[in-house]
Amino acid sequence: TIQRLNPFLPEVMPDPYKFYRYYREHDPVHWGVSSNPNLPGTWYIFRYQDVMKVLESPKFGREASKIRNDGEGAPVPKAYRGFSSMVSNWMVFRDPPTHTRLRTIVNKVFSPKMVENVRPAIIGITDCLLDRVHFQGEMDLVDDFAFPLPVMVIADMLGVDPKDRPLFRKWALALQNASASRLKPSPEIYEQAEAATQGFIDYFKKEIAKRHLEPGKDLITALVKARDEGNKLNDEEVLATCIHLLTAGHETTINLITKGVLALLRQPKALKLLRSHPELMPAAVEELIRYDGPVQMISRWAYEDIEIGDKLIRRGDSIGLMLGSANRDEERFENPDELNFHRPETKHCGFGSGIHFCLGSFLARAEASIALNTLLNRLPDLRLKNDSIDWANNIVFHGPKHLQVAFRSPRE
Ligand code: HEM
Repeated sequence: TIQRLNPFLPEVMPDPYKFYRYYREHDPVHWGVSSNPNLPGTWYIFRYQDVMKVLESPKFGREASKIRNDGEGAPVPKAYRGFSSMVSNWMVFRDPPTHTRLRTIVNKVFSPKMVENVRPAIIGITDCLLDRVHFQGEMDLVDDFAFPLPVMVIADMLGVDPKDRPLFRKWALALQNASASRLKPSPEIYEQAEAATQGFIDYFKKEIAKRHLEPGKDLITALVKARDEGNKLNDEEVLATCIHLLTAGHETTINLITKGVLALLRQPKALKLLRSHPELMPAAVEELIRYDGPVQMISRWAYEDIEIGDKLIRRGDSIGLMLGSANRDEERFENPDELNFHRPETKHCGFGSGIHFCLGSFLARAEASIALNTLLNRLPDLRLKNDSIDWANNIVFHGPKHLQVAFRSPRE
């Protein structure tokens, strides 16, 4: 018999791929334990083809209200009003037509061109973070580097005063704790998120009002002005979008950088290749997302009865799409467990697929390439301080809580 999997258990975190391999082979559409204790179970889907089928079908979506009337399964419990009503304006939790409207407008301003403009700022921020710790000869890659980098970058893009960055850092941490599905989030976690939401709301309300009077060249101004065929974002949607961009790009970028460094330090051949061929960086970033991506799982609801593999999924069932497993599917990728910067086929699903395909993929790629480049160039003997890794208990945003690394200090 096949054991029911709970992918949120701590023992899964160090090597989820071992579990994925087993289920891909023995029960690729698996009725496992749900992260939400109020649900009877979740269908975990492990094969690339099945994951893509769900992502491309309108029979699956994100709005719990379409199939449940108890509010159960909403991204945030209704009791946390500020947070839950703000989150309901996040495009990632909406289906068409609301999703289409929000995404079309935001796409216009959050573009590859805008990311190109922000490159010099990313380089500056990356260097500055490294300057602070360079002389110590060691750092926590998460706290000292990967955590502050995306917050500073997005704050810069939004046109936020650099002196307010610590506030952003504090609020981002609170939201990050609550927005990720974890085992039994505690009421304190939601209370802190509620307070952080209020902090953000008050902050952005003032900023938005300022931009109405005095437009700048930043993302808030662009969002305030953005229109599409007579539609525009109202102030609440601008506000929710600012917070969405900050949180969606935060935990993900942290883990892309941290697990990217971890994979390279654990595989000296790949590291050596990349050091001697820096032009491989874009391919390396793409392969690192396939190999051990920041987002291991995304969720959907079934809106109709539908067969996937040999299972009948019922209207109202919850679905977990295991992107990390799909990206190691041997039917799709040759030698999937190998980190290979010369793969001919690169269509991984680490950024999702279909209408919700990651809006920030350009920014994520730019931040990760610059961060890895800077680390490799400035820290030629970068190494892990110890082998045991403290993994966050989270399969959605999967990564180490901390990563202690050492390097030669320029003083030595
Ligand atoms: C959506 C992954 C970085 C903004 C998504 C989705 C995935 C993903 C898998 C699809 C969610 C779903 O279908 O349920 C990643 C990864 C990143 C990253 C691996 C690596 C660093 C970023 C950044 C931003 C961002 C830097 C923005 C600053 C978004 C937004 C959505 C999204 C707004 C929702 C799009 C929609 O619903 O249409 N991302 N993301 N992401 N991502 Fe990312």
